[in-house]
Amino acid sequence: MTRVIEACDLSKAYGDVQAVDHVTLAVKEGALFGLLGPNGSGKTTMIRMLTGQTRPTGGEASVLGIDVVKDPVGVRKRVGIIPEQETPPSFLTAIEYLKFVAAVRKIPDIGKKADWWFDFLDFADKKDVLCKDLSRGTRQKLMFTQAFIHEPALALIDEPLINFDPIMQDLVKDYLADYVKKGRTIFISTHILEVAEEICSEFAILHKGKLLHAGPIAELKERGEHLPAFFLSLVRKDHHV
Ligand SMILES: Nc1ncnc2c1ncn2[C@@H]1O[C@H](COP(=O)(O)OP(=O)(O)OP(=O)(O)O)[C@@H](O)[C@H]1O
Ligand SMILES: [Mg+2]
Repeated sequence: MTRVIEACDLSKAYGDVQAVDHVTLAVKEGALFGLLGPNGSGKTTMIRMLTGQTRPTGGEASVLGIDVVKDPVGVRKRVGIIPEQETPPSFLTAIEYLKFVAAVRKIPDIGKKADWWFDFLDFADKKDVLCKDLSRGTRQKLMFTQAFIHEPALALIDEPLINFDPIMQDLVKDYLADYVKKGRTIFISTHILEVAEEICSEFAILHKGKLLHAGPIAELKERGEHLPAFFLSLVRKDHHV
């Protein structure tokens, strides 16, 4: 089985803060991988390192076979990314932003593809609205569109469901679950453990930058355990160490 993400002893320190602390992790092709962890546990830092947005201070990682330190631009070209709290440029309209993304990524037939996404995520009426005037959820729809419009082999999303209403959450959840059925891979961070349990094939738990657990969801299910309870007991236990 091909490994699309491999991290070995990956670390990131911000001064005295060890945001990610010697994490070794592998993600297989076709996985829907959920990275879980309390606030400040290092999830965003991990995603930023894996997408070449920030340089590790230790260890190494490759994504789709590309070294994230040696060729961060190469990684960013190949993957789809929704960074934490990132919004589209305020001075462009929704369609202008997608055309800009298409030009950078050399995506053909952008008009047709964009229309499919406007329709799918139900925001065709916002096509010509400036991004600064879009609601938060609609901006997230646009970010979601830019991450998937070129159908990347791997997408990394920091909190895919944040800002979405329940109808959108359901739609996006199904989209992610279907996406990996075609052999592509998704790596998400999330606080919504019930969703992770429902759609992820594999998960990992970070706490204070350290990896507490990594493995298939099926393993928990076989033991009759539920992810939220497993997560809480593991993190609480570690908290008192
Ligand atoms: N640019 C930065 N400069 C200094 N410290 C940082 C920086 N980015 C993150 N940190 C610190 O690194 C640690 C991990 O932060 P990170 O954002 O990766 O956590 P997280 O798991 O994504 O949290 P959340 O669930 O709240 O999004 C925190 O202690 C945070 O304060
Ligand atoms: Mg985060």
